[in-house]
Amino acid sequence: MRTSETAHPGASPRTNEPLLLSQTGLYSNIITKQIAPGVLLYAPTHALWSDAADKRRWILLPPGTKIDTSDMDHWRFPIGTKFFKEFALGGHPIETRLIEHLADTGDAEVDYRMTPFIWRKDEMDADAAFEGASDVLGTDHDVPSRNDCFKCHIGDTGKVLGFSALQLSRMSSSPSEITLSWLVAQGKLSAPPPPGSNFPAPGGPATAAALGYLHANCGHCHSENGLAWPDTQMVLRLSVSERDPLGTQIHKTTFGVPLQRPQNAPYPLRLVSRHADQSGLIYRMSTRGTHEQMPPIATEKVDTQGLGAVTAWVNGGCSSQSDCNSNEYCDPAPGACGGAGTCKQSGNVCTAAAAQFDPVCGCNGRTYSNDCFRIGARVPLKHRGPCP
Ligand code: HEC
Ligand code: HEC
Repeated sequence: MRTSETAHPGASPRTNEPLLLSQTGLYSNIITKQIAPGVLLYAPTHALWSDAADKRRWILLPPGTKIDTSDMDHWRFPIGTKFFKEFALGGHPIETRLIEHLADTGDAEVDYRMTPFIWRKDEMDADAAFEGASDVLGTDHDVPSRNDCFKCHIGDTGKVLGFSALQLSRMSSSPSEITLSWLVAQGKLSAPPPPGSNFPAPGGPATAAALGYLHANCGHCHSENGLAWPDTQMVLRLSVSERDPLGTQIHKTTFGVPLQRPQNAPYPLRLVSRHADQSGLIYRMSTRGTHEQMPPIATEKVDTQGLGAVTAWVNGGCSSQSDCNSNEYCDPAPGACGGAGTCKQSGNVCTAAAAQFDPVCGCNGRTYSNDCFRIGARVPLKHRGPCP
């Protein structure tokens, strides 16, 4: 992977920077794990897979400041903003990461400080680890070096990847949950969208899950500002203006598009509609331990759930009719009579060949002379053969 041109500060500490997590302002009492007043817990709708570690995230916005949302896709945070992300395994914290916005000189190395802190075994504090570390505290968890932080975090203008209009557009489950609407109501955005605006990943539930997954897990490298842009010009990040799944840059730069680096996958195309098994992108997502693996850093285990969501989407999977195009029908698995299934073209599409007599029984109790007519009528399949 190309790293030489990546902007990064030296791994060594700078003058006066906190060497202990207890000095960063996250906790008012680190021993009792009391979070400091003003530090707000939040979660992105679509998370980055980190080999099954549990993660918690907080933002500290300086009092009286607003987030610059003049570009709704690329928020910029006021000087003094801090973001924290904690990694835990089995209920024990192992690492906490910190991003600080220090200045606006235009030089990312000067403007943003990124620090990983590794927790002590007694959990009384955590120490800055600028060089990163492997297999910390007897776990498989690797801590990236300060230089590696920048490989991903250069991917957005404000250097923050998961606190955005898209990642916070959802219905809240409690009045204090940080959502886009909450930020608008609290007056925290410099250019707020009209109240009630939401920009979630587009499409029905199955489509949005796949697009949101790619946005969160791949888009920081695979987008215009990202590390992979010079190599691939493939977009795996969503914009708030993309409301139609078929019109997204993700769709346009993957389906039927040849791999630019075919030497790294056994298939010629990035994605083949209905054929995840012949898609280079799926191949690279399911690979670990070689230079073909995607993402190339910060993971050693395949995310089976995320891979499943993207695979299902490529294969035309649907969890409701809203996942399918208007000329399609979300056909449930045979015998299920409802629920998740596959988008199938419906309407007047039964050709002479398909119109042979081969009766099937629909979930409505009616016999159709063949399966094509059943799909055309948008009725789930109960079983092959006529109804009793
Ligand atoms: C493999 C790419 C990658 C690397 C390496 C990485 N991050 Fe991140 N980080 C992300 C993504 C993507 C998010 C947003 C999604 C999430 O939080 O699950 C994120 C979120 C964060 C957040 C919460 C604020 C935000 O940007 O959403 C902090 C704080 C953070 N990272 C700090 C660090 C630090 C410090 C390092 C280096 C020690 C680091 N990260 C290395 C990809 C990465
Ligand atoms: C840390 C940055 C980074 C992240 C995160 C990342 N990639 Fe990549 N990706 C690269 C780089 C760099 C290349 C070009 C070199 C290569 O082919 O290995 C690349 C190449 C690819 C290619 C080959 C494209 C082509 O046309 O040849 C595919 C497909 C791909 N990535 C898919 C993904 C997917 C899917 C994800 C998320 C699950 C992802 N990547 C996450 C950096 C990244």
